[in-house]
Amino acid sequence: MFYAYQIKSLEAYRELYKKSVTHPENFWSDVATHFQWHRKWDKVLDWSFAEDDLHIEWFKGAKLNITENCLDRHLPVNGNKNAIVWVPNNPDDRCRILTYNVLFKKVCQFANVLKNNGVKKGDSVCVYMGMIPELAIAMLACARIGAVHSVVFGGFSAKSIAERIHDCQARHVITCDGSYHGAKIVPLKDIIDDAVITCPEVERVIVRTRTHTPVSMIKGRDVWWEDEIAEVESLGMENCAAEDMDAEDPLFTLYTSGSTGKPKGVVHATAGYMVYTAYAFVNVLQFDPRDVHFATADIGWITGHSFVVYGPLLAGGTTIIYEGIPVYPDASSLWKIVERFHVNSLYTAPTVVRSLMSYGDEPVDKHDTSSLKVLGSAGEPLNDEAWHWYHQKIGKGKAPVVDSWWQTETAAPMISSLAGVTPGVPGWATLPLPGVQPVLVDSEGKEINEQVASGNLCIRFPWPSIIRTTFGDHERFKQAYFTTFPGYYFTGDGASRDEAGNYKLTGRVDDVLNVSGHRIGTAELENAINMHNGVVESAVVGYPHALKGQGIYAYVIFKSGHQIDEKEVRQNIAATVSRIIGAIAKPEKIQFVPALPKTRSGKIVRRILRKIAENDLENFGDISTLQDTEIIDTIVQGRL
Ligand code: PRX
Repeated sequence: MFYAYQIKSLEAYRELYKKSVTHPENFWSDVATHFQWHRKWDKVLDWSFAEDDLHIEWFKGAKLNITENCLDRHLPVNGNKNAIVWVPNNPDDRCRILTYNVLFKKVCQFANVLKNNGVKKGDSVCVYMGMIPELAIAMLACARIGAVHSVVFGGFSAKSIAERIHDCQARHVITCDGSYHGAKIVPLKDIIDDAVITCPEVERVIVRTRTHTPVSMIKGRDVWWEDEIAEVESLGMENCAAEDMDAEDPLFTLYTSGSTGKPKGVVHATAGYMVYTAYAFVNVLQFDPRDVHFATADIGWITGHSFVVYGPLLAGGTTIIYEGIPVYPDASSLWKIVERFHVNSLYTAPTVVRSLMSYGDEPVDKHDTSSLKVLGSAGEPLNDEAWHWYHQKIGKGKAPVVDSWWQTETAAPMISSLAGVTPGVPGWATLPLPGVQPVLVDSEGKEINEQVASGNLCIRFPWPSIIRTTFGDHERFKQAYFTTFPGYYFTGDGASRDEAGNYKLTGRVDDVLNVSGHRIGTAELENAINMHNGVVESAVVGYPHALKGQGIYAYVIFKSGHQIDEKEVRQNIAATVSRIIGAIAKPEKIQFVPALPKTRSGKIVRRILRKIAENDLENFGDISTLQDTEIIDTIVQGRL
C-alpha cells in the first residue's frame, strides 16, 4: 500500500468510520503522521462551534511547509517523474512536461522573484492567470514563502477582481498578457489594468507571456515574469528555503458567492488543508502514485486548487493541466488527452458530462479511453442519464463513477463513494468519508434522528480542512455558517438520507444558484442587474437547465414611461452583468414585469417566482400574505 491512510475495503471503511467518530483525535493524528513536519503538534484539535466561543484549531503547535510535502519530499526517489503535464488550448499543439525536479526549481525561482518584489510572509497575492503551469508555480511559490494566494477565476470582470483585491488587501498581482479559451483570447492584463485603476494599493503586477497580446506595461508597477526569472538566475538564486509555517497560518483565500451581495473570502489553514485534501484525494480516487490524473476544473475554483494542484502533488502523482475547454477544437479534446497520456483518473463536473454527451458517441469512439480506472464528478448532482453515459461510454462499464459532494469551504470531498471500495449509487453522493459527521436538521435546527429522512445538511464535528474564517470579517463567518443552526456547521444544502446511510443532495436551500457547477449568489446578481440605469428592481431565481443544471431567470421591473426594445434591453442588461461580475453570471432569461410578488412587509416571495420559472403553475402555496395577488397572473402570462 502506498498511502498508509488509504482505505482498501468496505470493512476497513466501516471500522475507520467508527474510529473517526469515537476517537477523532487519534484518527486524524494517525493520518497526519504520514506528512512531513518541521515540528509535530502539541494538540490535535481545539474547537467549539458555539456562537460565543467559535474556534477551530487543528494540529496546534505544529510547524510545516506544504510545498515540502508537494515537492521536496518526492525529489530523492521521484525527481524525474512527471509532476505536471500541460496540454495547450489546442491539444494537438506541443505539450509541456515538468518533472518534480523541474517544478521544484521553478517554484524556488519564482518564490525568489516574489521576495525580490517585496512579498512577505502573510501578504495576500492576487493571481489572475490562464491555465498554464505558471499558475500552479505562482501558487506554490506563494506557499513556499508563506504568502497567501488568492486566485481569481479568469472569467471574472475587472470590477469583481478589484473587489477581491481590496477585500484581501493584496499589494501584488500576478497575471498573463492573455489566455486562450477555445477560439477566444481573454486579454487578462487589460482586465487587470481596468481593475487596478481602483486599487491604488497594488504596487506590483507581474506579467507572464502567453498570447503575445499587446499590453501596456506601466513603469514602476508592471514587470515581466520572464525578466524577473532571468534576474534571479543571473544572481544564482536557484534555491529558496521553505518558510516555517504554523499549522493554522492561512494558506490561501478563495472567494465564493454567498447569500449576500458581497463574495466571501474563504480562508483555509495550512496544516488542516494539507492533511484533509491529500487524505480525500487518495481515498476518493483510490489513487496510486503511478497514476496520471486529469481534473478538468479551472484552478480558479476550489476543485482546481485541491484536485488539479495540491491533491495530486501531495500524493506524488502526475497531474494534467489543460488550458482549453472540452469542446474546442471539437468535442473529442478530453478523450484525445486521455488516450495520449494514458489518464487513469478523470475528474470533471456534471455539466461537462452532459455537454459532451450531447455530441453523441462518435467523438469518444475515435479514442481509446481504456486507461481510465476511475471517473469522478463534483459540483452538482450527476443525473441518472449522465451517470450511465459516463460509466458505460467513457468507463466502458468498468471504471467506478464517484459522485463527490464538497464545497469551497470544505476544501475537498466530504460525502462520496471511494472508487471501487464503497458502492456508488447513481444520483447519490453516498457515504461520508471517515472523519466527516453529517447530520440532517429540521427547520428548527433539531437533529433528525430517523434514518430515512430529508432536511438541512449540517456537519456536527470539525474536519481538518474546514473554513477558518471569511477574510477580514470573522462575524460574517459566524453568521454564514454557525448561526442558522446553532452548534453545527451549516452547508447551505438540502439532502436526503436512505436506509443504508447514503446521502443525496437536493440543492441549495439558501439564495445561491449553481450554474454549471459555479456558485452565484442571487443578491450579487440582482445588484449587478440593478446597476443598469433603466432597471428599477429585479429578482433572480434558478430554473432547471438541461446542460447547466440550473439556468438564471431574472424578473426585471424597467423604468415606466419608456417604450423599450426588449431584445436590446435584454442584451444591455446581460452586458451590464458581464461587466459587473463576469460572463458566467449572464441570465438566460429576462422577463420584464410591472411589479414583483411581495409580502405586505415588502419581502419578495421567491418561492412563487421560482415556480413560475420552473413552469410549475399548479399550486403557489399560501398567497394570503401577498400585497397584490393579481401580479401572479400577469407574471405567468408573460412567462418566457
Ligand atoms: O450545492 C452544493 C454543490 O456545490 C456547492 C459547492 O460549490 P463550490 O463551493 O463551488 O464547490 C464545488 C466543489 C466541488 C455545494 O454546496 N455540490 C457540490 N458537489 C455536489 C454538489 N451538489 C450535488 N452533488 C455533488 N456531488
